[in-house]
Amino acid sequence: MDDSRQNQSILVVHGPNLNMLGKRQPEHYGTRSLEDINTSLRAKASELKIQVSMIQSNHEGEIVETIQKAVGRVQGLIINPAAFSHTSVAIRDAVLILDVPTIEVHLSNIYKREPFRHHSFIADIATAQISGLGASGYLFALEALAQLIA
Ligand code: DQA
Repeated sequence: MDDSRQNQSILVVHGPNLNMLGKRQPEHYGTRSLEDINTSLRAKASELKIQVSMIQSNHEGEIVETIQKAVGRVQGLIINPAAFSHTSVAIRDAVLILDVPTIEVHLSNIYKREPFRHHSFIADIATAQISGLGASGYLFALEALAQLIA
């Protein structure tokens, strides 16, 4: 394992309603809670010898401000903007300002769902998108980013 990663930091942003994971439409989002997913992310980060921090917010402006504050402090971003994926130019612009390798994650496969979910304002500026692999998608994203920024 590359020890230079010790100083690398990844920000994970969970968007609106993801605080309800576990209780919320399990047929789409599974039965794991957000805390459970974050615990797995922390364990994977420690395996990868990389720093990780997570935030969840139901507020677009708070997500924008969190991403702005991360400028110069993180080397990679994992973001599930949730419903804001389909609406938010402001979050897109913040991700462009942050300007680090970014993986967009969706628990469900947004392309198998309602047409309004098929467009993401993040997809074309992200390094990659993982959609439909459930909670594992976050862990794959962390592994991929760790390699990308090593
Ligand atoms: C989601 C998909 C979005 O369309 C939805 O609004 C969410 C969660 C997902 O993880 O599958 O809240 O981003």
